[in-house]
Amino acid sequence: MFAISLGDGAELRPLEPWQAEEFLAHIDRGREYIGRHVGLPDVAADLGSARGWLQSYADKAATDTGRLYGIWLDGLLVGGVLFRVFDAGNGSCEAGCWLEPAAAGRGLVTRAVRVIIDWAIEERGMHRVEWLVSSENTPSINVAKRLGMSRDGVQRENHLYRGVRQNTEIWSVLAPEWRAARGTR
Ligand SMILES: CC(C)(COP(=O)(O)OP(=O)(O)OC[C@H]1O[C@@H](n2cnc3c(N)ncnc32)[C@H](O)[C@@H]1OP(=O)(O)O)[C@@H](O)C(=O)NCCC(=O)NCCS
Repeated sequence: MFAISLGDGAELRPLEPWQAEEFLAHIDRGREYIGRHVGLPDVAADLGSARGWLQSYADKAATDTGRLYGIWLDGLLVGGVLFRVFDAGNGSCEAGCWLEPAAAGRGLVTRAVRVIIDWAIEERGMHRVEWLVSSENTPSINVAKRLGMSRDGVQRENHLYRGVRQNTEIWSVLAPEWRAARGTR
């Protein structure tokens, strides 16, 4: 299977339904940390639902409406990046990410998202890449900033998560901005 080096022993690889057990073990290691702002641990509650979520992304890949990749550090699955939405006709997509806590603080997600944004813009002709994030999720907002994204605005109290209404910030980068910043990355 192909792998893209992210440096420092980390690799970006496809993450597919046959890897459901490995994926569930990873989510179990990060369940509380990942679940503070995103519902991924809830949709991967057990082996069946973990496989089902991976299958939903295999289906998205087959229809060119989304993509999912895992991040392995020294051979251990520690996180992932994805296109939750991928609209090739409209030239827009929404990227996202997660890590288990032991893998945070090393720049892995920033490097992995750069790889998939490069692919989306340079190979697939995407014009706009979005990043939707709870206004409480400072580490993820910092990723958007490191990627050179701009804050488009905020959807006030649009998302009910674990009984609390969340504001969702929308960040984005456009293809000309991404290319213009290439030399500075
Ligand atoms: C969002 C999330 C992935 C961010 O993780 P992260 O480790 O902070 O992000 P990165 O992998 O890009 O690493 C950046 C950190 O590594 C540091 N770093 C070290 N080496 C680095 C390098 N070569 N390049 C960039 N950053 C580096 C940065 O300084 C930064 O640390 P800081 O925030 O303390 O300054 C993580 O908090 C998470 O999984 N949260 C739960 C799930 C979630 O909320 N997902 C996002 C939904 S919108």
